[in-house]
Amino acid sequence: MKVLVTGANGQLGYDVVKELKLRNIEYYGATRNDFDLCDFTGTEKFIIAYHPDVVIHCAAYTAVDKAEDEKELCKAVNVDATENIAKICKKIDAKMMYISTDYVFDGEKDSYYEIDDEPNPINVYGQTKLEGERAVQEILDKYFIVRISWVFGDHGNNFVKTMLRLGKEKKELSVVDDQIGSPTYTADLAKLLVDMIQTDKYGIYHATNEGECSWAEFAEEIFKAAGMEVKVNRITSSEYPTKAKRPKNSMMSKENLIRNGFKTLQSWHKSIIEFVEHK
Ligand SMILES: NC(=O)c1ccc[n+]([C@@H]2O[C@H](COP(=O)([O-])OP(=O)(O)OC[C@H]3O[C@@H](n4cnc5c(N)ncnc54)[C@H](OP(=O)(O)O)[C@@H]3O)[C@@H](O)[C@H]2O)c1
Repeated sequence: MKVLVTGANGQLGYDVVKELKLRNIEYYGATRNDFDLCDFTGTEKFIIAYHPDVVIHCAAYTAVDKAEDEKELCKAVNVDATENIAKICKKIDAKMMYISTDYVFDGEKDSYYEIDDEPNPINVYGQTKLEGERAVQEILDKYFIVRISWVFGDHGNNFVKTMLRLGKEKKELSVVDDQIGSPTYTADLAKLLVDMIQTDKYGIYHATNEGECSWAEFAEEIFKAAGMEVKVNRITSSEYPTKAKRPKNSMMSKENLIRNGFKTLQSWHKSIIEFVEHK
């Protein structure tokens, strides 16, 4: 099996490549130096020349707030380039794995989102990721769409690293307490993704670490795991306004993973301890 990973320099792509290497699976980790996703012809030439059996599409426009001002670029990367990759996969009969997000939902539901709940994005990034999902579904039969949330990994910037940095500088921090979701540790997720591509159990999946929390609870646990004494003041989203709106509830049901015999990820509490130990 030959696997092409896009966004190999990103948080998730980096760990997916690491996992493929560990399992002795032939792979290529593509970065912007290999092809810009917005260069459709260059992307096609590169992928067809490598001729993978699977494309794990981790690259995306991920700047959620900036996307509100850069709609065109965000759409070009998350929708048009995804559609291009899906068409290339169709041409070479490759499986495609598309990484999506909890931000396809509006967060108004008061229980877990199921895979067939109607998406209703409330920001530009979420809207483009949803349109990317739909392009994949229209073009391909052999696809995995994996919705993840609150991503953190060793490579790249994320909330955990920001908290650890700020925690060294301040004794007290204010963190939003009215958005509930599940963190996803890229090292854990990469194992599941590599398991999944070796099957033909296509469809939509939700995959995050087990358990939920608010950002404030997440921050408290990060400081606890790192042995840092930092007071977390719980604030509301309206006290911390951002350019893009975020869903209040991001909890996603992992039912489809379980139904298809995949192992769910460990609890986010355990992951955060492992992450801090790695540092
Ligand atoms: N981060 C989260 O909290 C989160 C939550 C839910 C879902 N997701 C999804 O999970 C996936 C992985 O996210 P991540 O956090 O690993 O993202 P990331 O760290 O921001 O990495 C994204 C990668 O995409 C590459 N990229 C962007 N535009 C490109 C272009 N035009 N041509 C070529 N490469 C381009 C970037 O390359 P450069 O480094 O050169 O810019 C970067 O390496 C994405 O699909 C994202 O939508 C993320």
